[in-house]
Amino acid sequence: MRMIDLIIKKRNGRELSKEEIDFMVGGFTAGSIPDYQMSAMMMAILLKGMTDEETVNLTLAMTNSGEKVDLSKVSGITVDKHSTGGVGDKATLVLLPLTASCGLKVAKMSGRGLGHTGGTTDKFECFKGFNMALSAGEFAEAVELRGACLASAYGDVCPADRKMYALRDVTGTVESLPLIASSIVSKKLAGGADAFVFEVMSGSGAFMKNDDEATELARSMVKLGRMAGKKCSAVITNMDQPLGAAVGNSLEMIEALETLKGRGNAETNELIYALGEQMLLIGEIASTKEEAHKKLKEAIDSGAAIEKLKEIVSGQGGDIRGIDDYSYLPTASITEKIESDLSGYVASIKCDDIGNAVRILGGGRLVKEDEVDLSVGVVIHKKVGDRVEKGESLATIYANSKEKLEEAKEIFLSSYSFSDNKTEHQKLLHGIIE
Ligand code: URA
Repeated sequence: MRMIDLIIKKRNGRELSKEEIDFMVGGFTAGSIPDYQMSAMMMAILLKGMTDEETVNLTLAMTNSGEKVDLSKVSGITVDKHSTGGVGDKATLVLLPLTASCGLKVAKMSGRGLGHTGGTTDKFECFKGFNMALSAGEFAEAVELRGACLASAYGDVCPADRKMYALRDVTGTVESLPLIASSIVSKKLAGGADAFVFEVMSGSGAFMKNDDEATELARSMVKLGRMAGKKCSAVITNMDQPLGAAVGNSLEMIEALETLKGRGNAETNELIYALGEQMLLIGEIASTKEEAHKKLKEAIDSGAAIEKLKEIVSGQGGDIRGIDDYSYLPTASITEKIESDLSGYVASIKCDDIGNAVRILGGGRLVKEDEVDLSVGVVIHKKVGDRVEKGESLATIYANSKEKLEEAKEIFLSSYSFSDNKTEHQKLLHGIIE
């Protein structure tokens, strides 16, 4: 079998067999198939798509590319939650400690930032020393011991996804339903949890640009998970503007910490309750949404959720001082307000451009080897439906270079459009597949 023939076959819109997919994933993981051939194949998949059977085979080949975590010794139902990626996408940062403090066992296998979106592992690196490169055994032990653990999907678990993910990020091959579904579900299956909650984002800042595409992705992931015998649900959320206020690793962590301390903004709160309820239901910690909601609220109000975060961070070797004192988190040297040059109601925000502006500041990768600057980003003050007067502040920008700040500011300003007529605030929850 030769990779070149498989690329041509897919390029011509034909279906790859299980043996061909196993050959491709195995060879790429082992290094015998080079990056340039895998890039060409992923572009062909993006353009020509995959049948359901190909997507299942790709997911299983990726799951089997490395070690699989055995969580059978962990008591109770283990749950993993994963988002398809968006801008200001910070729910996991809150949900990991919050649901664990309600008694759930959270086994979270996570990825880095992809395209214009941020990644949970990058965000947790804001706690100096926080170690996510755990072996399968260490991961299982930590879940049992502290109720929650965050491990990065590299090392021995799902190496195929780690390599494909990094390559997709820099070759324009992220926005493909079969590649996203197989990337997420293979990590989940290799991570060993019993049940998954998928947060599927829809809109200009997501990889799925509308509700039809997002629903198709949600259904595909739920189907893949259920075929492997897992309990699954999915929540479809709005990504036509960034979630909450902060975009950028450290800034999002601060917003998450505020939420855990009971000072979250309405939008972030709405999201974490919707997802948290699904997690507690699927993990059988609560039997109704009302009961789940009450448990989540009590964990925040009593301080149990923030205490749980301290336990998780220190348990994985991280510096917990940043949880109470944000000056211990990565901090940018330049802060500037972005003033509106127009008056009116915010009619739309090109959400992916906000992600790209933060990427230009250094908050995301432009090439695979890039180091992410965790301190940079924006905090948004005006969202769709809000009234703005000329000169009023749309956002605060955090940067470490004046030149990058100016470039990002220009992109940020051009991402906003205004209307003289009153516009509606956007709805956050677009659907739930239970
Ligand atoms: N998150 C993932 O883990 N993989 C994708 O492809 C997209 C989002």
